[in-house]
Amino acid sequence: MSGFYVPTKIYTGESAFENLKKYPIRNMCIICDPFVESSGMIKKPLEVLQSMGASYHVFSGITPDPSTDLVGQGVSWILEKKPDAVMAMGGGSAIDAAKAISFMYQKITEADKPLCIVAPTTSGTGSEVTNFAVITDSTSHIKYPLTDDKLLPRIAILDPTLVRSVPPRVTADTGMDVLTHAIEANVSTAASDFSDALAEKAIRLVRDYLPRAYRQGEDMEAREHMHNASCLAGVAFNHASLGINHSIAHVFGARFGIPHGRANAMVLPYVIEYNSHMYEKHFQTDNRAAKIYAHIGIIINPGTYVGPQAVRNLTIAINKMNKEFEIPATLKEAGVDEKTFLDMVSEMAEIAVQDKCTNTNPRTITKPQMVQLMKRIYYGR
Ligand SMILES: NC(=O)c1ccc[n+]([C@@H]2O[C@H](COP(=O)([O-])OP(=O)(O)OC[C@H]3O[C@@H](n4cnc5c(N)ncnc54)[C@H](O)[C@@H]3O)[C@@H](O)[C@H]2O)c1
Ligand SMILES: [Zn+2]
Repeated sequence: MSGFYVPTKIYTGESAFENLKKYPIRNMCIICDPFVESSGMIKKPLEVLQSMGASYHVFSGITPDPSTDLVGQGVSWILEKKPDAVMAMGGGSAIDAAKAISFMYQKITEADKPLCIVAPTTSGTGSEVTNFAVITDSTSHIKYPLTDDKLLPRIAILDPTLVRSVPPRVTADTGMDVLTHAIEANVSTAASDFSDALAEKAIRLVRDYLPRAYRQGEDMEAREHMHNASCLAGVAFNHASLGINHSIAHVFGARFGIPHGRANAMVLPYVIEYNSHMYEKHFQTDNRAAKIYAHIGIIINPGTYVGPQAVRNLTIAINKMNKEFEIPATLKEAGVDEKTFLDMVSEMAEIAVQDKCTNTNPRTITKPQMVQLMKRIYYGR
């Protein structure tokens, strides 16, 4: 994408929902994670809608990694309600489902695009500012990253109180998703000075605040910065796109049910090694990706090391974070059966090479190279 713009209006802070009053909303469909309804978190926007005299309907049947079947159910539901606004409230799963449902609604009715509002309740996907929606085919179990500017939300509500209740396990997984978005955007072949600025800031925020948010969920300073980091990384990768880390995480997530952020975190050190040519003898930072990884290594792990050692230090730092967050170091450690993996690896490699995210990876990859990389991720180095 040439040029740089952020079409989504971003409202932040505990009172961010109050900004809904600026829009002429009469009839809203809210698509949310079941937790949003059961915890009472949904009351916050509902009170604002009531004060505006707007009507609303709630669809809370979202399951993780939304499927085409679920999107179909949501589309039938929304066609009955005919909203002028759609609000997604939840983690990436609820947001992507809502974006896909709203997109299909427009296509079918040729109605004006309903005002699309997103209030994330995890700090991870950045989906509130991206033109992506990741949907899993109910039959083939392949995760498809759909991309279309019509999927871009108009309004993002970054209320940090929505993430206070996220348990440590999900905080770690989603936080490592933020780091992966920022690193992949930084090394992407479509990166620019603009996306790099956002990605680097997100990396610094993750470095400083993810361990705090993980250890102490009530630390609202850490929660707020992680919520912003997720959004900044989202804007960065919406412009620069991603790479093979996500291609591999999509297929591992779909085949083995590994949560998206955890799959990314597990894969990240191996992809850095592959992209920087670290496996090769006389490893040097003489290629673009390795230079950028060395720079990120110095950000994550400030010190005196430069060049190849800074890249190695980056993978060491990520492995250390994964260990603290109890994220498995290999697919084997994640409990995936060896025979099942070996039976599937060729097909998974094919799917990952074809994934849209592969197009902007800094190093090209063939199917045999992908098989080899996946085996490294299974067995360890
Ligand atoms: N569209 C994009 O740009 C994009 C980018 C990355 C990932 N994704 C997709 O997003 C999905 C993952 O999203 P996610 O990582 O946010 O996970 P998620 O939405 O699946 O939620 C993970 C878990 O956290 C719970 N949860 C959510 N908010 C909570 C809260 N405030 N308190 C307590 N529990 C809470 C949910 O109920 C669920 O059990 C995947 O399908 C992935 O492929 C999309
Ligand atoms: Zn992701």
